[in-house]
Amino acid sequence: MNISVPRRVTAVAALAALALGGLTGTSATARPAEAAGVAAAPDISLTAVKQHLTDLQSIATANGGNRAHGRTGYKASIDFVKAKLDAAGYTTSLQTFTSSGATGYNLIADWPGGDPNQVLMAGSHLDSVSSGPGINDNGSGSAAILETALAVSRAGYQPSKHLRFAWWGAEELGLVGSKYYVNNLPTTERSKIKGYLNFDMIGSPNPGYFVYDDDPTIEQTFKSYFAGLGVPTEIETEGDGRSDHAPFKSAGVPVGGLFTGASRVKTSAQVTKWGGTATAFDRCYHSSCDTTSNINDTALDRNSDAVAHAIWTLSAGSTNPPTGKVFENTADVSIPDNGAAVTS
Ligand code: TRP
Ligand code: CA
Ligand code: ZN
Repeated sequence: MNISVPRRVTAVAALAALALGGLTGTSATARPAEAAGVAAAPDISLTAVKQHLTDLQSIATANGGNRAHGRTGYKASIDFVKAKLDAAGYTTSLQTFTSSGATGYNLIADWPGGDPNQVLMAGSHLDSVSSGPGINDNGSGSAAILETALAVSRAGYQPSKHLRFAWWGAEELGLVGSKYYVNNLPTTERSKIKGYLNFDMIGSPNPGYFVYDDDPTIEQTFKSYFAGLGVPTEIETEGDGRSDHAPFKSAGVPVGGLFTGASRVKTSAQVTKWGGTATAFDRCYHSSCDTTSNINDTALDRNSDAVAHAIWTLSAGSTNPPTGKVFENTADVSIPDNGAAVTS
């Protein structure tokens, strides 16, 4: 008999997948989630994400204490991330640009497969300021999307959409790398990008849980994830347009993202909501103490898991593509005498 067991599915994943289908103009079907074969995202290991942060800290320490644009610690950070992605089967490319008289680098990593006309992107800036190692800003986002990319490879994930990850250079000089990427994309390529997810500072030591208020489907995907954890969220307001999603948004790409707060002070209402203290979300923002000690593990773990959830949900693929007929259960299947399966 040829009856396949359906893959594990979450209700949240299925609903969001249907919603993004609407966003991108793909028609949503009336099939139940199980029949649609939407695979659930894996749990992202906090230990693995923190190991990436330890490695980025070591790179900074070995290169004068920072990973800033134009400094040796930046290129070493790029080489570190690229090697992991190459080993995992990504197609990587380094895009170079010049800013303030120094060469800058964006790292672009494509996961082979998916619909080339429907691209889902996630990005984080990999540069730090020159005054510190930049572990929360933005080792945190960089490490979370790196571990998510590696999880895609480990799962043998076959998304419906094409997945592309990006690590931006020279964000701290004014979104230089991401602007360069968007401005140099041919219009036809730009229009294939159906969503861009940005992760800049997602492990702040006195965290809030902020979701960008941009594309409604992307926003809802993140909000649903945190609602499932029972963690309240707020709309991100600490400087909209201050990170790498801004050039994409300006170009008409649907954007979204997560943030745990920078130099702004947590209000007493937010302390009641999230715990912590009525001080800056990140008292080490842009300073030398933005080290591996400047991370809240719970925030980093929740946000890393939210990254994977959004990537899986919004790209709506399957881990093991069905071969032959697939049935959601045996109750509505009958096997005629000739052995050919028929659905009711
Ligand atoms: N992008 C800023 C930096 O790297 C940090 C920041 C401030 C931010 N406000 C934000 C990031 C809002 C995301 C969203 O210095
Ligand atoms: Ca986790
Ligand atoms: Zn940043």
